[in-house]
Amino acid sequence: MRMVDLIEKKRDGKELATEEINFIIDGYTKGDIPDYQVSALAMAIFFKDMNDRERADLTMAMVNSGETIDLSGIEGVKVDKHSTGGVGDTTTLVLAPLVAALDIPVAKMSGRGLGHTGGTIDKLEAISGFHVEITKEEFTNLVNNHKIAVIGQTGNITPADKKLYALRDVTATVDSIPLIASSIMSKKIAAGSDAIVLDVKTGAGAFMKTAEDAKALAHAMVSIGNNVGRRTMAVISDMSQPLGYAIGNSLEVKEAIDTLKGNGPKDLEELCLALGRQMVYLAGKASSLEEAEEKLKEVIKNGKALEKFKEFVTNQGGDASIVDDPEKLPRADYLIEVPAKSDGVVAEIVADEIGTAAMLLGAGRATKESEIDLAVGLMLNKKIGDQVKAGESLVTIHANREQVDDVIEMIYANIRIADQAEAPVLVHDIVTE
Ligand code: URA
Ligand code: CA
Repeated sequence: MRMVDLIEKKRDGKELATEEINFIIDGYTKGDIPDYQVSALAMAIFFKDMNDRERADLTMAMVNSGETIDLSGIEGVKVDKHSTGGVGDTTTLVLAPLVAALDIPVAKMSGRGLGHTGGTIDKLEAISGFHVEITKEEFTNLVNNHKIAVIGQTGNITPADKKLYALRDVTATVDSIPLIASSIMSKKIAAGSDAIVLDVKTGAGAFMKTAEDAKALAHAMVSIGNNVGRRTMAVISDMSQPLGYAIGNSLEVKEAIDTLKGNGPKDLEELCLALGRQMVYLAGKASSLEEAEEKLKEVIKNGKALEKFKEFVTNQGGDASIVDDPEKLPRADYLIEVPAKSDGVVAEIVADEIGTAAMLLGAGRATKESEIDLAVGLMLNKKIGDQVKAGESLVTIHANREQVDDVIEMIYANIRIADQAEAPVLVHDIVTE
């Protein structure tokens, strides 16, 4: 087999066979096929697309390029959730204990990563003592006995994706549905769960700016999952404004606790129920999505979800008293209000820019080496569609520096007040096959 022939084949819009896709990914991972040939192929895929079979093959070739996580020691149907990335997205912190409270095993492997705020692990580390440096055996035992545990990412998972994603980044081939879908799904499949629920974001703060693109990506990922034997469903949700009110690590932990108590922001609660019901359904704990949602509401109401969160925090060395006393979470030295300059209705809160403002305060990592300040961030006091009077606070800045003019300026530039506006629809669509 020669790589040049395979590039030509795809360039001419033909289908690549399973063995051909395996040859490419294997050769690329080993370094036998050079970057320039894979770039040409990625560009051909960008223009000519891949069918469902090719997408599934590409995904599995990347899964098989490295280690995979073996969760077979954990009893029950393991369901994982993945979000394509948003701003102030606190859903994992809520969903993990919420679903575990229904006896569904949550075996979460998580990373830190770059972004506006830290990843799930960073957020949890806002709780004093909480740690994810546990052995595989401890992880398995915790999930079997308590239905929930989080472990830090280890091992060489999907090295082919790592290499290909970096190459796409510098060859203008990131925005390709078959390449994005196989990239995301390969990592999820290698992580070992039996079923996958996807939260595909759309809007200013999202990777997919339009609902149409988000829908195409969701269908592509659901199809890959189901074609390779992992039951997969997706929710398409709005990310034109940040989710909930809190953007920042401690602030989001508190917001997650409020949500588990049934007092969270309405949009965060709605999305957690939309994703959670798919998880419960795929885990086989309900015979319909409606029944699944009822069960979730019940464990919020009767306090079992909150108890599960405390149990989870305690098991991993954390101080669970923060649940009843969130004031014990790291707090910033300065609280600075950002008042509205005019009367009206909030019409726009540009999610990614507001996220960047939180990062400027130190809530997220700009580079792998950056240190996160767990205490800082932003609390939105208004969301799109809310009435506001001049002088009323739009946002409260939680900072550990006194001078925050840069952040204030970014906030004003990215919150628009108009005469009229309506709250956006949060759940645009659900994709079940
Ligand atoms: N996220 C990924 O993991 N891969 C992509 O290709 C795009 C976004
Ligand atoms: Ca939030």
